[in-house]
Amino acid sequence: MRRPILAGNWKMNLTIAEATDFVRSIRRGLGAIKSVDRVLCPPFTGLAALKDLLSATDIGLGAQNMHWEEGGAYTGEIAPAMLKELCQYVILGHSERRAMFGETDEGVNRKIKAALAHGLLPIVCVGETEAEYDAGQTEKVVGGQVRGCLAGLTAEQVAGLVIAYEPVWAIGTGKAATPAGAGAVIGLTIRGTIAEMYDEATAQAVRVQYGGSVKPSNVAEFMAHPDIDGALVGGASLKPDFVDLVRIAAETKGS
Ligand code: PGA
Repeated sequence: MRRPILAGNWKMNLTIAEATDFVRSIRRGLGAIKSVDRVLCPPFTGLAALKDLLSATDIGLGAQNMHWEEGGAYTGEIAPAMLKELCQYVILGHSERRAMFGETDEGVNRKIKAALAHGLLPIVCVGETEAEYDAGQTEKVVGGQVRGCLAGLTAEQVAGLVIAYEPVWAIGTGKAATPAGAGAVIGLTIRGTIAEMYDEATAQAVRVQYGGSVKPSNVAEFMAHPDIDGALVGGASLKPDFVDLVRIAAETKGS
């Protein structure tokens, strides 16, 4: 059985003061939902404050990016060991980083290896653009991303990962994928590619989230799909009803 995992990707939002207020308001509600993993991913600047605020809870904390190097002359970057002091998870290869900051599958692959070497749990993002979707290339693009990102990892490492399938056209648009469509990409393409690279047991062990315009009113449909193990939530994770979203997700998987 794969334990469901709901993560909030705050992107470049909330100052330390805002983050502290917000987490104080949702901490009790989120903390009470024990049947799923819950993770908050603030900007780097919020990690230390949230670490303290969440220390008495089992709510996880994640960063949104990381460099693969151990340290050195990389102005503006954050090393794995620095994150390890603050959080347990790290989002890697988000489509905004791929589109705006030149991230490649090869770079994401290096970051995954570095994160695992430091005991951080990567949430690895893949997903096709609207043009690729329209051209019928979803399978080719997402399959290629999975192969590129996971290259050289052991089956055991892959089994422990979280992958987020986020079609770029669904992110921040209010135009979510259909649960059947997203479930097919996750089941056939993502798990299918992992089964080809490794074996069926590994493909069935890895947790795969859907991401892209998930909100309280649609999360149940996604969670009801047997291949979808959770959600990576952007906009809706910045609102107090993120607690409702996570509760609905937990209830759907539990029923
Ligand atoms: P969204 O973002 O929920 O605002 O669509 C999801 C993401 O980018 O992770």
